Amino acid sequence: MDVLRDFKEEEFEKSLRPKFLKEYIGQTSVKEMMDIYIKAARMRNESLDHVLLYGPPGLGKTTLATIIANEMGVNIKTTSGPTIERSGDLAAILSSLEPGDVLFIDEIHRLPKVVEEILYPAMEDFSLDIVVGKDSTARSIRIDLPPFTLVAATTRFGDLTAPLRDRFGVVEKLEYYKEDDLNEIILRTASIFDVKTDMDAASDLARRSRGTPRIANRLFKRIRDFAMVKGNGSVDLDITKHALEKLKIDESGLDRTDKDYLLGIIERFNGGPVGIEALAASIGEETTTLEEAYEPFLLQEGYVKRTQRGRIATEKAYKALEIDRGTLL
Ligand code: ADE
Repeated sequence: MDVLRDFKEEEFEKSLRPKFLKEYIGQTSVKEMMDIYIKAARMRNESLDHVLLYGPPGLGKTTLATIIANEMGVNIKTTSGPTIERSGDLAAILSSLEPGDVLFIDEIHRLPKVVEEILYPAMEDFSLDIVVGKDSTARSIRIDLPPFTLVAATTRFGDLTAPLRDRFGVVEKLEYYKEDDLNEIILRTASIFDVKTDMDAASDLARRSRGTPRIANRLFKRIRDFAMVKGNGSVDLDITKHALEKLKIDESGLDRTDKDYLLGIIERFNGGPVGIEALAASIGEETTTLEEAYEPFLLQEGYVKRTQRGRIATEKAYKALEIDRGTLL
């Protein structure tokens, strides 16, 4: 029974991910561009040029990589920067590719430098340069690879080296989703889960999902739990508001960590400026988690400003936390 349930959950999870461009909601400009490049590559009967997708976590980079493979009608092999430790690991993956395949490398900014160097000739000439033997008998041999498409994803575009960045023919940035798009994604999820969901409940959740489908879908599942246990199984505005309050998600979608971050700047560092390391240590979070998962949204929404001397909380942050600036002075 438990095995069955796990299986069901996993199948649902998979079915949530759109498989083709026409099912993928939002990111209009990325979709438009990819549609043209894919069609052109197919018309020429060529593999698609290498694609770099970047942007905050949870916006659908992995989903898009799968869609690219599906639209091209090829297989996808998936790995990630931190799991490829040695050049031999990458060489093994590369030599297992079939013509046209998509190789997806998530978190490519975490690829070790020695491994990255194997990737250059592989991307450019579809060839693999490997050293065999040791010391005086060491020699380099060159192995031809089939043409393939590297699709890489990163949350830290700025951390990529110039030689790696320059080898991608297609570079696309994923933006936070508009509320309307998130609304549509939530209604799609509700219909896949077969959960009756009121329009006002969906739009309340859309407004509070930080522009991120992964967050919208995760919260929707928890709201569904509340609806089943505390309500009649359908998702309405009351149960949505109740569940989100219990989950400590505020009216604008800020969660506990967002608030700790902003409160940290305001209360412990007098509103800033404060360096990210000091702030992270003071609230017990990893610097990279704050930089990659939290700050992009807080910066874009204008809760915080980044200056040469550090982060500063804005008026909007004081308002969101209902802190009167005057009482702190
Ligand atoms: N589920 C998660 N992200 C999605 C998207 N962009 N389109 C459709 N369904 C999604």
